[in-house]
Amino acid sequence: MAEAVATEQKTTATVTVDGATVEVKKGEMLIEAISHLKHIPHYCYHPGLSIAGNCRMCLVTVEGIPKPAIACATEVKDGMICHTLDDKTAEARRIVLEFLLINHPLDCPVCDKSGECMLQDFSYEYGQDRSRFEEHKVTADNKVFSDHVIYDTNRCISCTRCVRFMEEIDGFGGLCMVQRGDHSKVDIFPGRPVDTLLSGNIVDICPVGALLSKDFLYQHRVWWLEKTDSVCPMCSKNCSIEIDTNLEGDVKRIRPRENERVNEWWMCDIGRYALTDLAENRLESPAGTEGAGKSMKDAIQLFASKAAEAKGKAKVAVSLFASNEEMFLAKKLADKLEAKIAVIEPAKSDAIKFRKFEISGDRAANRTGAALILGETASGVDDVETVIVLGTNPDGSAPEIAKSKAKLLVLTNKIADLAKKAVVALPAALFTEREGSYVNHDNHVQRFKRATFPKSGFGDLQIIAECLKAAGEARYADLSASGVFDLLAKEIPAFAGMSHRSLGKLGEKIRD
Ligand code: SF4
Ligand code: SF4
Ligand code: FES
Repeated sequence: MAEAVATEQKTTATVTVDGATVEVKKGEMLIEAISHLKHIPHYCYHPGLSIAGNCRMCLVTVEGIPKPAIACATEVKDGMICHTLDDKTAEARRIVLEFLLINHPLDCPVCDKSGECMLQDFSYEYGQDRSRFEEHKVTADNKVFSDHVIYDTNRCISCTRCVRFMEEIDGFGGLCMVQRGDHSKVDIFPGRPVDTLLSGNIVDICPVGALLSKDFLYQHRVWWLEKTDSVCPMCSKNCSIEIDTNLEGDVKRIRPRENERVNEWWMCDIGRYALTDLAENRLESPAGTEGAGKSMKDAIQLFASKAAEAKGKAKVAVSLFASNEEMFLAKKLADKLEAKIAVIEPAKSDAIKFRKFEISGDRAANRTGAALILGETASGVDDVETVIVLGTNPDGSAPEIAKSKAKLLVLTNKIADLAKKAVVALPAALFTEREGSYVNHDNHVQRFKRATFPKSGFGDLQIIAECLKAAGEARYADLSASGVFDLLAKEIPAFAGMSHRSLGKLGEKIRD
């Protein structure tokens, strides 16, 4: 016991912040060590990047240090006494803001960052309501950094977050600060745009509206956006994401959601802009030789009855982009129809490695979930009369099945050959329109919520449940994804004890 206390004394420090005494980790910077207690205003500090200490917004008063100290680069010491609410600190913050705003344009009414801008927030808290600056502001032209990113030079506060990201996380290193003093700005090397697959992250981490996403430019005021926690389905990493929709339910942007066990603060541009490709050429109403022209309700009934009639003569082909819940019901359907299950493989690709981030080479979102839920799978679909295709790859492909001579009942998101060839083809919901869960390549289970309703009015889970009902199993018909997950957790040991509620925002790892 005495030894344990001695070890603890070595690794922690006692710090007094605004009169409250706390134990913090030794060696940490003040801004991190007391973050659970106090939010220190900052611009250049980012927990995922190295410390630059250049914006001076995080100044606090530390007893024994004559001038205000920057909390992002002041290491905690045992017995340290600091003040974040005193007049000296407030005055230091006011002065820093006055400097930062000298050349800053009054763009808030047209700036995309407005509403989530750290300059707005801290000016409101610590700034002053008028400028004493009577000279002309220094101005410079905007610059296009890449197909996705625009740089508004006048709004930049030279915090270097974007430069450090490109150096430390991406490794591309193609951003740099040029010029001096109030002419400082970020720039790219001539003829070398930021054409890396992590480019969108610099827009997220820019604390002001200097880096702008072309996709979102002048699209929406952020305070009208509804935020939904979701998971990226574009590779087996399953980055945690946030989907922003407007009041009409249109998806306006997708951004990473902090999850240190999966993607930290980042995501790639494949996932960020996936919706543009997914929404193209989308199947929105029933198709196929017998399904075309039918209402969704009638087409689902036809699909379900044909699936039930194929008992003993069918295979069920499941997409590796299906959720755990969809896979669980697909397996139940296969059992009911005495059918084997085959999985639909996406095209092979290589991992894309950055300095501190990796896009998985396995583009299947839920291969781990499939292995746990579907059990043994069969290869090939040529030995049966009917193939029930529950979801395809995101591009609408299912190569093995497209070659098959069997009768096809297809649930797909794209108008492609498969949908045209099918007896009945039903529109599948996009990932933004579904709810459920995935297991990533690291056995991490995460839940995703529905950001907007399926365009066809029917979700994939509901369609599979209708097929089960037609096959004589009605118990899944009115269950939500969370209800199906509860049943799955009772049956499949890897998910034992989990529920949508227990998965929460960050998910849980499957126990060995
Ligand atoms: S563009 Fe944004 S992130 Fe980059 S230095 Fe300027 S303010 Fe900082
Ligand atoms: S790394 Fe994979 S999961 Fe993450 S955003 Fe990119 S495609 Fe999506
Ligand atoms: S956050 Fe500390 S100096 Fe910028």
